Amino acid sequence: MDPLRIAVLASGRGSNFQAIHEEIEKGRIKATIVLLATDTKDAPAVTRAQGYGIETLYLNPKEFPSREAFDGAMASALKKRNVGLVVLAGYMRIVTPAMIRHFKNRIMNIHPALLPSFPGLHGQAQGVDHGVKIAGCTVHFVDEGMDTGPIICQAAVPAYDDDTEDTLSARILRCEHKLYPQAVRLFAQGRLEVDGRKVRIKNQKKKEEETLFSFV
Ligand code: GRF
Repeated sequence: MDPLRIAVLASGRGSNFQAIHEEIEKGRIKATIVLLATDTKDAPAVTRAQGYGIETLYLNPKEFPSREAFDGAMASALKKRNVGLVVLAGYMRIVTPAMIRHFKNRIMNIHPALLPSFPGLHGQAQGVDHGVKIAGCTVHFVDEGMDTGPIICQAAVPAYDDDTEDTLSARILRCEHKLYPQAVRLFAQGRLEVDGRKVRIKNQKKKEEETLFSFV
């Protein structure tokens, strides 16, 4: 079987992109990242991709009349490259049906909160403001809603009274870098089965190792 062909879509830093790339390089995920696509010209993620020798693509949102037109162009670029999984990693755009219909249950996102709590922007700050004691991150398939798609896996970290958005974000980010590659690995192994809003992980040996993670 040919390795899974992945496109990563990012708008900024790209540390999750790096974490997934490193696991692939170590041979722990049977996949290849064929494209790093971005909607921001100077995203640090682009520099990382160039360093890894991964093709990059920048689409300028201003050159498209609508979100759907932008997503149509993105979907065409991905299909041209036979992409089997789209990984959103700090991609600051809402993905429209013009993308989703081409990649049903094949677009993943990571969100820095335990969904369905605190969807949308600044999930970590929302957690701090709410006074949660447990925070974390969620990898989910992308549907038409905002952070509403079927949940693949989650990881929890403690939240402390003296946490700020920055300190909690840093703790969650360390988790993200383990959780996201794990979700991609499960997908590449063909072990994710979507049933309505639930994702089943096939052939789980130690369930707690693949569903709930606490790395701190
Ligand atoms: C992460 O916190 C992720 O949860 C959110 O955006 C951030 C991206 O960070 N969706 P990076 O670009 O992967 O470093």
